[in-house]
Amino acid sequence: MPRALITGVTGQDGYYLSKLLLEKGYEVYGLVRGQNNPKIDFIREELPDVTILTGDLLDVSSLLRALGKANPDEFYNLGAISFVAYSWENASLTSDVTGKGVLNALEAVRLHSGDDLRKVRFYQASSSEMFGKVQQVPQSEMTLLWPRSPYGVAKVFGHYMTINYRESYGMHASSGILFNHESPMRGPEFVTRKITMAVARIALGKQKRLALGNLDAQRDWGFAGDYVDAMWRMVQQPEADDYVVSTGHTHSVRSFLDVAFNHAGISNWDKHVYQDPDFFRPAEVDLLVGDASKAKEVLGWEPKVSFEDLVRMMVDSDLERERATKD
Ligand code: NAP
Ligand code: GDD
Repeated sequence: MPRALITGVTGQDGYYLSKLLLEKGYEVYGLVRGQNNPKIDFIREELPDVTILTGDLLDVSSLLRALGKANPDEFYNLGAISFVAYSWENASLTSDVTGKGVLNALEAVRLHSGDDLRKVRFYQASSSEMFGKVQQVPQSEMTLLWPRSPYGVAKVFGHYMTINYRESYGMHASSGILFNHESPMRGPEFVTRKITMAVARIALGKQKRLALGNLDAQRDWGFAGDYVDAMWRMVQQPEADDYVVSTGHTHSVRSFLDVAFNHAGISNWDKHVYQDPDFFRPAEVDLLVGDASKAKEVLGWEPKVSFEDLVRMMVDSDLERERATKD
């Protein structure tokens, strides 16, 4: 039975990746940070077959201890401060966790592996946010990185450190440059889930208005369940490498609003949505659209869920959740 250790198991991708690996017969270990983390109960209920280990990306010794207990064949580094807007307000902490945390994870895996530096296969959750002020459309593995946020800068550090450990030590370390991916498990701070939660509440008469920032930003949105499969495929390759994972289609926040409100039976969302300067960012990533042809050719990976189906899935899930709760 192969063994996997996942950091960030309490996040959206940690949930879908754990499910995928358990279905494939893996023994799955999940790293959970903090004292009495409230999300531990969710993991215990929804993913009872995941063995929980405590540790923090800021603490190399905790990572070494977790590696000693799990003795994994594969290490998926999904843990990060992942909310771009928050990264301006907490730039130093974001650099430590999202940037230096990757180095801590690589170093822990290297030390744990002893003389056999290919013993543990490593996956780094890199991001299309690294393309920032895009220098090419669509963006591929060869596109120049131009990050626009402290989060993006930290991810660039983690990306190059992963490549450096592969080149310096021969480690099987891959970096997945994933474009935005969403699901009903998406955190409520991200624009897609913020919209689908509000749409459900507005449709049920529980809320009237929704405050948003830049409605013209364009993103290449895919389904998280499809994207964790790409992570796993990367790790199974004989040689580690870097891959863009995306749908190749881009949509504005406005288009997301169109599909979401329409699906809930509201044809004119103008009266419900207003723009609030608080949600604009100091520097914006205007357009992301990925070229995932390398992932298609080498990994045989393709996204299955369309943009429209993704939005509908998220609205349906939030409608169901809102119907089941009172307020
Ligand atoms: P998420 O839902 O925000 O989950 C982030 C995870 O990181 C949570 O489990 C969180 O734990 C954990 N974490 C935060 N600080 C930590 C620390 N100091 N030590 C250990 N773990 C820590 O993010 P996601 O959407 O699942 O994304 C997974 C990864 O992919 C992240 O690295 C993200 O930056 C990257 N990524 C995401 C996307 C996307 O569109 N979703 C695209 C590209 C890349 P708590 O629950 O305890 O806070
Ligand atoms: N969150 C949020 N809230 N975003 C808003 C809002 C709002 O009220 N109004 C407009 N937006 C715009 C943002 O300015 C941005 O251009 C876009 O919606 C998407 O924002 P997010 O959903 O917060 O995602 P992100 O693209 O900044 O970052 C996500 O994707 C990255 C991959 O490109 C995160 O998951 C990152 O962790 C990930 O790396």
